[in-house]
Parts: sequence; C-alpha cells; structure tokens
Amino acid sequence: MKIAVYGANGYTGRLVVAELARRGIDTVLAGRSLERLRKAAAEVDAHRAEARAAGVEDTTALARAFEGCDAVINCAGPFRGSGEAVVRAAIGAGCHYVDIAGEQLYLKRVHDTFASEAANAGVTVVPGVNDDGLPSDLIAHLAARRVEPVTDLVIALDLARSGATPSRGTLRSALANIDTFTGGGLTYRDGDWLPDAAARSTSVAFPGDPEPVPAARFPLPGVVTVPRHVRARHVEGVVRTELVAAFSTVTPEIVDGVPDGPSEENRRAGRWTIIADATGHDGRSARGVVSGPDTYGSTAVIAVESARRLVVDGAEPGVLAPAQAYDATGFLDFLTEHGATWTVEVVPAGG
Ligand SMILES: NC(=O)c1ccc[n+]([C@@H]2O[C@H](COP(=O)([O-])OP(=O)(O)OC[C@H]3O[C@@H](n4cnc5c(N)ncnc54)[C@H](OP(=O)(O)O)[C@@H]3O)[C@@H](O)[C@H]2O)c1
Repeated sequence: MKIAVYGANGYTGRLVVAELARRGIDTVLAGRSLERLRKAAAEVDAHRAEARAAGVEDTTALARAFEGCDAVINCAGPFRGSGEAVVRAAIGAGCHYVDIAGEQLYLKRVHDTFASEAANAGVTVVPGVNDDGLPSDLIAHLAARRVEPVTDLVIALDLARSGATPSRGTLRSALANIDTFTGGGLTYRDGDWLPDAAARSTSVAFPGDPEPVPAARFPLPGVVTVPRHVRARHVEGVVRTELVAAFSTVTPEIVDGVPDGPSEENRRAGRWTIIADATGHDGRSARGVVSGPDTYGSTAVIAVESARRLVVDGAEPGVLAPAQAYDATGFLDFLTEHGATWTVEVVPAGG
C-alpha cells in the first residue's frame, strides 16, 4: 500500500507522515516545495519516503504526484481555495481521498461537487477526518440510531479541558473562513442547510461540568455529514461561547505571531470531547460521548486509519460521510487503543 500526503511538510502533515512510518506504510510526501518536503521527511525519520513537488495550480504535476498511490491524505489547509484541486487530482489518479479539513463550507462543497466524479472513477472520498469530524459523525450515528427518527440532534465540541494551543494552520484556516466561524455556520433543517438559523441550544451540559454552560452555534463538520446517514429534522453544532469569542479575535498578525503548533508535551496533554444529543419523535433521547487525547496526534491517527481502511476494506465509491464509509463501532473501538473513550446511553421519555 502506498499513500501520498499532500501538505506533508505542515505541522499536522508531519504527524501524519510519522504515523504512516510507524505503521510501516509506504509514503509519498507531496507539496509545493521539494526542499521543505525533504526537510520534513528528515525531521520525522521518514528517510525512505519519496518527495514529489506539485502546486495546486499545476494539474499535471499534481496528478503525477499521486501516480502509483492507493490513497491521498490532504493536510494542506486552508482548504478553501486549494482543497478542490487536490480532490480532483486524487480522483483523476484513481486514488481514494481523505482530508483533515475542519472548514464546514469546504466540506459541503466536496460533498456537493465530487459525488459522481468519484463514483465514476470507482474511488471513495471522505473529507473531514480529523479529531472532530470523524468521531462526531460516528458518535452521532450511533446515538441517533437508538432513537430514530430524530427530531433534534445537537453536536457539541468541548476543548475547554484541552489546555493545548491551536496550530498556526488552524488559526489561518479559521481566518480564511472567519464569517462562518463567528456567525455559527450552517444548520440542517428539514432537508436543507441554512446559513442563519437561530440556535435551539443555548446551553450544554458537558460531562464533568457541575451545570450546563452557555453555548453558541459553531460550524462543526457533523452538521454537514450527519444528515447524510441520520434521519433527523434538525441538526446543529455548538461550542462553549468562549471558543466563538476566541476565534472572533483572530487577526493576520496573531496568525503570523504564533508558533507552527503546540509543543509535543502541550499537545499530548490536551483532550477533546464531543457529545451528540439525539431526541427521538417518541420523546426518548440518546447521548453519545466520545473523548480523546492530543488533538493533532489523534488527527494523524484518524487520517491514516481512514485512508488505510478505504484501501484495505473498501467502501462505496463516491463522496461519503465517515459513518457511511466505516463501521462506526469498529472505528471508535480502534480509537480506544489510542486513548479515546466512548459511550452511548438512552434516556427514556420524561426521564
Ligand atoms: N479538528 C480540526 O478541524 C483539525 C485538526 C487538525 C488540523 N486541521 C486542519 O488541517 C490544516 C493544516 O493544519 P496545520 O496546522 O498542519 O497547518 P500548517 O502547519 O500551516 O501546514 C499547512 C500545509 O499546507 C500547505 N499549504 C497551505 N496552503 C497551500 C496551497 N495554497 N497550496 C499548496 N499547499 C498549501 C503548506 O505548504 P507550504 O509549506 O508550502 O506553505 C503546509 O504544508 C488546517 O486547515 C487545519 O485547520 C483541522
């Protein structure tokens, strides 16, 4: 098996290359600077890996960069603007494709644009496989399945116990999508995605908090992916209000002034938690909770395993949400081997 990593010299790209090396998977480092790719390969001891240079505007070079590979993991963000060229090139080269994008509008665009191209090429495209997008989609699937059909599904991301700082690339991507991050992004309602819907949840009870905390809408990937496999009337994403406030103060000067990412110690100490609260038509509700360590390290583990499963196990050709491409229980159980925990509990009507 050979996997290409586009944006391989970035902060998360390097973690992905290191994870591929740890798993003994042949790797091609791809990106726009051969010099930076070679330096990155040396830094993560991936000396045997090949480096291939290609910018997103050079269609021929990009296609050549993916030649002979089974899958592409795209780590080059901001994805808005550059991501689609990489998806198109991967499909053209006959490679399965995953990326680590957290940009909600980009994820929707990939689903809206590439379904038939990918299906015709016989490859599977699963965008948004990071520490948020994949676990939230899988846990929401499992919680909703217990009470379907669902009236309301609320996905909430909590990084408050993280302590870890965001990477420069994360902040740059937030800045590239600042309206979406400060405005709350899309809400799914009755078969459509709406940009300006008022939040139904204004507080969330996160596990471990003594009482519910104020929450605000946030452009979580699950809002775009979950309605593709869960029968729900309303799906929204929320976070603690402080996180929205933190993103709304990001400026180009702040982005340029931060280090490329948290130190290894800082990122390993962090923790992410996602809850999915599904309410059924019959009044019963189900809560799924998934939590794990190390935002960027988990993203590398998730991205590599997502690509590997597409190559080894296969999935329907086309553009899929994580829960359509993978067995939700099996993948979450795999993540427990990397420090994650997950539960789904049903609360009876009136309970
Ligand atoms: N939970 C989440 O949502 C989550 C978790 C982890 C990562 N992510 C996302 O992953 C992305 C990467 O983050 P990071 O911290 O690794 O960023 P980073 O260190 O800035 O790395 C970005 C990489 O993308 C490449 N790149 C950027 N723009 C490009 C373009 N127009 N054409 C070709 N290559 C381009 C860069 O190449 P050069 O060196 O040539 O500039 C670099 O290799 C971000 O979008 C981040 O939000 C999301």
